[in-house]
Amino acid sequence: MSSLEPSRRDTRLDPYIDQYADRTGSMTVSAVRALFAVANRPEVVSLAGGMPNIADLPLADLGASFDQLIQTKGVQAMQYGSGQGELFMREKIVEVMAEEAITANPDDVVITCGSQQALDLVTRIFIDPGDVILAEAPSYVGAMGTFNAYQAQIHHVEMDEDGLLPDALRQAVVALRAAGKAVKFLYTIPNFNNPTGITQPLERRREVLAVARELGVLVVEDNPYGLLTIEGEPIDAMRSMDPEVIYLGSFSKTFAPGFRVGWVLAPHAVRERLTIAQEAAVLSPPVFSQFAIANYLDNFDWRGQIATFRSMYQARRDAMLDGLSAHMPTGTTWTSPNGGFFVWVTLPEGLDSQALLPRAVNERVAYVPGTAFYADGFGSRNMRLSYCFPTPERIYEGTRRLGKAIADELEMHATFGLDTGEHRHTDRNLGPAPDVS
Ligand SMILES: Cc1ncc(COP(=O)(O)O)c(C=O)c1O
Repeated sequence: MSSLEPSRRDTRLDPYIDQYADRTGSMTVSAVRALFAVANRPEVVSLAGGMPNIADLPLADLGASFDQLIQTKGVQAMQYGSGQGELFMREKIVEVMAEEAITANPDDVVITCGSQQALDLVTRIFIDPGDVILAEAPSYVGAMGTFNAYQAQIHHVEMDEDGLLPDALRQAVVALRAAGKAVKFLYTIPNFNNPTGITQPLERRREVLAVARELGVLVVEDNPYGLLTIEGEPIDAMRSMDPEVIYLGSFSKTFAPGFRVGWVLAPHAVRERLTIAQEAAVLSPPVFSQFAIANYLDNFDWRGQIATFRSMYQARRDAMLDGLSAHMPTGTTWTSPNGGFFVWVTLPEGLDSQALLPRAVNERVAYVPGTAFYADGFGSRNMRLSYCFPTPERIYEGTRRLGKAIADELEMHATFGLDTGEHRHTDRNLGPAPDVS
């Protein structure tokens, strides 16, 4: 028997434990995944997952259109394709990005398997183990999973109700560089940040870009939700103000996630490396999906469909905000997003969202504890609530159940003594300064 073969007498839970690469040490099961098993039970109102609600898509018409696509272009559509992605798809993407004021050349677009793979490719070409990635505090759990997989050091930058703080960005870069760290890029979600729902106004975008430019920090702008602005028009993308910004887009929220089509728009030299990395990863991104999406953009009113999604999500957001106002105990606060999928709740002092979760699930409501969105242990007083998937009635009911769970937890604390939470990182602004070493 070779040493790679697990022995039947090996009593360790994972007999391959000595074989894995070092980088897997930082790969942990995401809190979201671990929750899905419970949250998916029908009696539970899940405010946890971030699944887009695509029931409003014209499925019958799409079916007929895809049927036609296979009959007329099936041989091409089911073949291998270009590592960079098909030119017709990249041209369409340039049209989509124009909605957020971006002017671009299709030659600078690389198609990816969702923007999740865009994150992977960008990290792959820029990060050596120990390099620093700056990210909002808090930030998208899926991005942090990728950054960890490449053994990056994630350093959070404070935000306020208008997003990333330019001064905090400056201080972080200066301190990290003084400590000898290589700051490789800033990862930012300026529209409807996942998890907070916070959006950066135009002026703040300019300020952040000015600091990044002055300090020579590359900016990676992740924008899957921008076109799902509820009131008013989408704010111009950071990439529209600075062609050096690496921009990530996706059809997952504006059309459907199952096609797994996203993209990166990058300066020419970066695009070249991304394409090579993409070829090494998957040879070519899914060709059939690109044909299907281009077909959809050509033959359907995709802008009208986005307007339908916007009002559908508006009804859900309103149900959540109404429900929170009606049911949250005093001392609980939350954000009011103008789009995207998420509301960020701050619990009354002394409560811990992870400790609260079993009680919430017992009340048949689920959420994601805030710590999932920090790389440094903060967020225990926060939770992410998503309003994208359940019906407005269920969302409202979910907030009622959550309100009860929080009130019961508060009562228990009042009876048995309030944990002030001093030993935990409950508020980044009050907690100890994050270690930059
Ligand atoms: C901020 C952010 N970026 C990227 C993604 C990945 O999306 P996809 O790979 O489906 O394009 C998500 C998904 O929820 C997200 O919220």
